Amino acid sequence: MKICIVGIGYVGLVSGTCFSELGNNVICADIDKKKINQLNKGLIPIYESGLEELIKRNFKQGRLKFSYDVASSIRTSDVIFICVGTPTKKKTNKPDLKYVFNVANTIKNNLNKYKVVVTKSTVYPVTTGDKIENILNLKKK
Ligand SMILES: NC(=O)c1ccc[n+]([C@@H]2O[C@H](COP(=O)([O-])OP(=O)(O)OC[C@H]3O[C@@H](n4cnc5c(N)ncnc54)[C@H](O)[C@@H]3O)[C@@H](O)[C@H]2O)c1
Repeated sequence: MKICIVGIGYVGLVSGTCFSELGNNVICADIDKKKINQLNKGLIPIYESGLEELIKRNFKQGRLKFSYDVASSIRTSDVIFICVGTPTKKKTNKPDLKYVFNVANTIKNNLNKYKVVVTKSTVYPVTTGDKIENILNLKKK
């Protein structure tokens, strides 16, 4: 299965690496070019026990790739995981969903075939999934 992880912080990088270890082809995409360049050089930005070994093995075997071309990574994948940050807004104490909706729009603009979209980012309130679905449905047929 071809999987795209959008946003490779703690959650996305660990999830993507584990999916590749299970035998899937995974593209980890992020707008942070520096982070992507470092990962492509074998420099791991976070510490999790055993993670470096898994990343290096799957990268070497070609199942795990890193890209800052988010659009093309989405186009070539069957399943997209939204893993971008949702920082808490100071005034309302609720998660800021702008990054999530931003990614939903990028997915909409690159929907070239049937895809499963999974929201792994923390969202609030319930019905946020409907808003994401509405964005995806805005694609012109
Ligand atoms: N579902 C779960 O199991 C679970 C568990 C813990 C945390 N979370 C949630 O997962 C989310 C991510 O957490 P984290 O700690 O990994 O965040 P993080 O801040 O460490 O990483 C987010 C990444 O998203 C990237 N990003 C932002 N906008 C982007 C865009 N438009 N396209 C591509 N990349 C983009 C950033 O550059 C960054 O690398 C948060 O919402 C967090 O609350 C979920």
